[in-house]
Amino acid sequence: MAAVTERRSALVTGATAGIGAAFVRELAAEGFGLILVARDEERLRGLAAELPVPVEVLPADLATADGCDTVAARLTDAGRPVDLLVNNAGRSLNRSFLRSTVELEEELLRLNVHAVMRLTLAALPGMVERGRGEIVNVSSVSGFAALMPGSTYPASKAWVTNFSESQAQLVRGKGVRVMALCPGYTRTEFHGRAGIDMSRTPSWIWLDARTVVRAGLRDLRRGRVVSVPGWKYKLAVFGIRHAPRGLVHRVARDTRGRIGHEER
Ligand SMILES: NC(=O)c1ccc[n+]([C@@H]2O[C@H](COP(=O)([O-])OP(=O)(O)OC[C@H]3O[C@@H](n4cnc5c(N)ncnc54)[C@H](OP(=O)(O)O)[C@@H]3O)[C@@H](O)[C@H]2O)c1
Repeated sequence: MAAVTERRSALVTGATAGIGAAFVRELAAEGFGLILVARDEERLRGLAAELPVPVEVLPADLATADGCDTVAARLTDAGRPVDLLVNNAGRSLNRSFLRSTVELEEELLRLNVHAVMRLTLAALPGMVERGRGEIVNVSSVSGFAALMPGSTYPASKAWVTNFSESQAQLVRGKGVRVMALCPGYTRTEFHGRAGIDMSRTPSWIWLDARTVVRAGLRDLRRGRVVSVPGWKYKLAVFGIRHAPRGLVHRVARDTRGRIGHEER
């Protein structure tokens, strides 16, 4: 089997489930060598065993400094350059800010914001030096406005989208691409992990992870800086960006009633 260094390689965070696992499968089918990051080592090894390409398993908790250091060290290893970084790992919370804790909010920011900054800073200078490379930061449609009253998750994703747009402009013309992938509701483990009850959410609202990833990779290759998979969500984002703020907030309040954020 060829070594990872002989073919294009991709490092995917949050590789074991949902959108991350869909990235892994899609990139493996394209022949990428893969570096898989998540906390659950057994699950990482199980996924690695299924893949027909060379795979490195890199267990790390990206909400910790040590976890970020481990992955950053792999990304800065000049002898084994990474061609595509997918900053995908992220989480939400199931409670209003009034009932939150400093620990939970800091953990969300460390994973959704700090790890994205840290790993992009590890990968991007080397990519610019080599004159090639791609970074996909998985953000969210929710980052386009304060769509979940009391939730800090959309604010973390607003940072990811803005950050990605900013870095994309910085590296334009240098052979390197940075893109924010902004999915809407996608069927994964995400809401279950956060304890958010989505049972009252209509079925037409859901995307599947494979569709999200395929649209994202297509947009990346077209040179898009922000990718919103699915025509319904493209329309929604247009509305969010152009409708009066008061109307957006009213719709957001109504939507919250249909999505079970536990109030504790
Ligand atoms: N699903 C949606 O509706 C939706 C919509 C818009 C945006 N997004 C975004 O899409 C991204 C992926 O979400 P998903 O829906 O695919 O979630 P998911 O199914 O819950 O998968 C999360 C992945 O991240 C890993 N992970 C969680 N915490 C981690 C940590 N501290 N350090 C390292 N890895 C960690 C998990 O593995 P371990 O538990 O083993 O670490 C798992 O592989 C997130 O950034 C999310 O905000 C999701």
